[in-house]
Amino acid sequence: MTLCDYRPGLEGIPATESSISHVDGKEGILEYRGIRIEELAQKGTFLETAYLLIWGGLPTKPELDAFKDEIQHHRRLKYRIRDMMKCFPESGHPMDALQACAAALGLFYSRRALENPAYIQAAVVRLLAKIPTMVAAFKLMRKGNDPVQPRDDLDYAANFLYMLNEEEPDPLAARIFDVCLTLHAEHTINASTFSAMVTASTLTDPYAVVASAVGTLAGPLHGGANEEVIAMLQEIGSVDNVRPYVEDRIARKAKIMGFGHRVYKVKDPRAVILQGLAEQLFDKFGQDEYYAIALELETAVTERLGGKGVYPNVDFYSGLVYRKLGIPTDLFTPIFAIARVAGWLAHWKEQLAENRIFRPTQIYTGPHKQPYVSVADRI
Ligand code: ACO
Repeated sequence: MTLCDYRPGLEGIPATESSISHVDGKEGILEYRGIRIEELAQKGTFLETAYLLIWGGLPTKPELDAFKDEIQHHRRLKYRIRDMMKCFPESGHPMDALQACAAALGLFYSRRALENPAYIQAAVVRLLAKIPTMVAAFKLMRKGNDPVQPRDDLDYAANFLYMLNEEEPDPLAARIFDVCLTLHAEHTINASTFSAMVTASTLTDPYAVVASAVGTLAGPLHGGANEEVIAMLQEIGSVDNVRPYVEDRIARKAKIMGFGHRVYKVKDPRAVILQGLAEQLFDKFGQDEYYAIALELETAVTERLGGKGVYPNVDFYSGLVYRKLGIPTDLFTPIFAIARVAGWLAHWKEQLAENRIFRPTQIYTGPHKQPYVSVADRI
């Protein structure tokens, strides 16, 4: 074995082999199991996509129907999980609530029967089914309201919006939300997926795997950036302020949220699709005051930083879509998590098939042969 050079952030270091998704960062291509994201967004649904990612191929009609039925059947939360959520502080971030709830599922379901395909199937179904219910429930319960029970006659996306906003969504809104889930479902070995894989490699239970990934997704350099984008557009306030804002950030070497990506050096293909979805929503439901600012920001950042490969990433336009769907800003990252559960579970399954515990090495930079100084002698 040859030792590689140390690369901070493991940039460019292969940590696994995977057949789940592929990114070509120079050409702006994303494929799930070889199918282009544009095609899945246009013709597929989120649950079909989740099946594709997790089980390796598109489902037949009977397989898809059975998968949907199972998920529908498991959408409800145990009352003890709801009781637990009642104790969460209302000011707590929904990602922290989600992480706690995902981990809590492990308390209720039998643990670590990882060699049993029925256990794997049941965990996949439960996590895909219950995570949206948890996100919607926390939104209502933090205001002291009762959660809305899932409705069996609504599909995955429509049911989530219904539980969240307490009214049946417009069909276009539900369809667009479903596409958003597809776009966020998987993205190779990003930080949260890597976190899921490291946790999976210890052969712990899948609820711990997802809880670990949720905690990693929450950070502002990863999924949390979609919330920061809206705060940034608010702070900029007008089209005239865009260029001074960009110059100020560049002068201070501060990041501009929703731009840049470790792999993409062109505009993220998901940002292209999300921008189109935002425009469809604006056409039907009215313009968003921040859209003109966002467009000017994209132009300004592209002019100034395009040479370094800094372009809009998936988080730049997603917030504008979610705002138009009536979703509060602090739920943007939990919604990302609802979708990414599919990718995390696909990698969990793949990891189990040929598992070796992750145990990288380090370059020690501390001292050796130090004396132990007793507390009384320490200054
Ligand atoms: N704003 C300003 N400059 C940027 C940005 C940005 N958003 N992103 C990268 N750059 C510049 C860096 O300053 C650096 O310039 P330099 O070489 O002159 O020092 C160069 O581009 C390379 O940037 P790195 O930070 O080294 O790139 P890295 O691959 O480590 O970071 C990351 C990628 C973390 C996504 C970064 O672009 C960033 O912080 N973006 C803002 C946060 C964000 O939108 N995150 C969501 C990413 S998508 C996702 O996780 C779902």
